[in-house]
Amino acid sequence: MKDKIALVTGGTSGIGKEIVKQLLLEGCFVFVNFGHSEEIMYEAKKEFKEISKNFKCIKADVSKEQEVYEMFETVKEKFGKLDYLVNNAGMNIDCFIEDLDIDGFRKVLDVNLVGKVICTKFAIPLLKKSENASIVNIASRLGTKPCEEASAYCASEAGIINFTKVSALELSKYKIRVNTISPSLTRTPLALAGWTEKEIEEQMNNNPMYRLGEPIDIANATLFLLSDKASYINGENLNVNGGILLK
Ligand SMILES: NC(=O)c1ccc[n+]([C@@H]2O[C@H](COP(=O)([O-])OP(=O)(O)OC[C@H]3O[C@@H](n4cnc5c(N)ncnc54)[C@H](OP(=O)(O)O)[C@@H]3O)[C@@H](O)[C@H]2O)c1
Repeated sequence: MKDKIALVTGGTSGIGKEIVKQLLLEGCFVFVNFGHSEEIMYEAKKEFKEISKNFKCIKADVSKEQEVYEMFETVKEKFGKLDYLVNNAGMNIDCFIEDLDIDGFRKVLDVNLVGKVICTKFAIPLLKKSENASIVNIASRLGTKPCEEASAYCASEAGIINFTKVSALELSKYKIRVNTISPSLTRTPLALAGWTEKEIEEQMNNNPMYRLGEPIDIANATLFLLSDKASYINGENLNVNGGILLK
C-alpha cells in the first residue's frame, strides 16, 4: 500500500480516524475529510502528525455536491489520481416512525447514503487513473438487521449495501473494486454518546465475543479490502461484528 493515494470521509473521529492512522502507517498519502468540527479535526491532526506528514485535511459536507466536487478537484490538482476511497462519514438520529421529523429522516439519508453516492461519482475519474483502485463503503449491521427507533439509519445502511453491489457491477470494467463493511456497535463518540455503563455492559454481554467492536477491528478489515490481498473480492458486504448476527 506504500505510496498509494487515499481519501477517507469522516476521517477525524472514531472509525474513520483509525482507518486514516492505519493507512498512514502503511505509507499512503491520505486526504482526511470532515464535515463540520475544526476543533475535532485539529485534535486528530496532532495524532496523525505523530505518524506521518503525508496527509491533508479537507472540510466538505459529503451531502453537498459542490463541496464534494471541490474536494476531489483538490485531489486532482495534487496527484491527478486516487487509489482508495473510504466512504465512512455517517450520522444518526434516534426516533420512532410515528414521531418522525421528515427533514431529519432526509438528513440521515443525505449524509449516510446520498453522501456516499456523491463521493463515488466524483471519485470515479480519479480512481480510473489507478492500476488497482478500491472503494470501501462503511455501512452497519443495521443495514441487514432492523432496529426500532432507527428507521432512517437502517434504510440508509441497507441502501448502501445494495448501492455497493451496483457500483461493483458498473466499475469492475475499470478495475475498481467496491465492497461494504458492516460493523456492529463499535466504541466511538457517535455510538456511545448517552449510553450508561450498564447499557454498554449489556451490549457486550449480548455479543458472542463479550466485547464491543473497536475502531481498529474495522480499520484492519478496511485495509484488507482496499489492498491487493482482496483483489478478487468485489461487491461483498463484510460483517465485522464478533458474530452477533448468529444470535
Ligand atoms: N460506531 C458504531 O457503533 C458504528 C456501527 C456501525 C456503523 N458505523 C458507521 O461507521 C461510520 C463512522 O462512525 P463513527 O462511529 O466512527 O462516527 P463518529 O465518531 O461520530 O465520526 C463521524 C465522522 O464523520 C464526519 N461527518 C459527519 N457528518 C459528515 C458530513 N455530512 N460530511 C462529512 N463528514 C461528516 C464527522 O466529522 P464532523 O462532525 O466534523 O462532520 C466525523 O469525522 C458511520 O458511517 C457509521 O454509520 C458505526
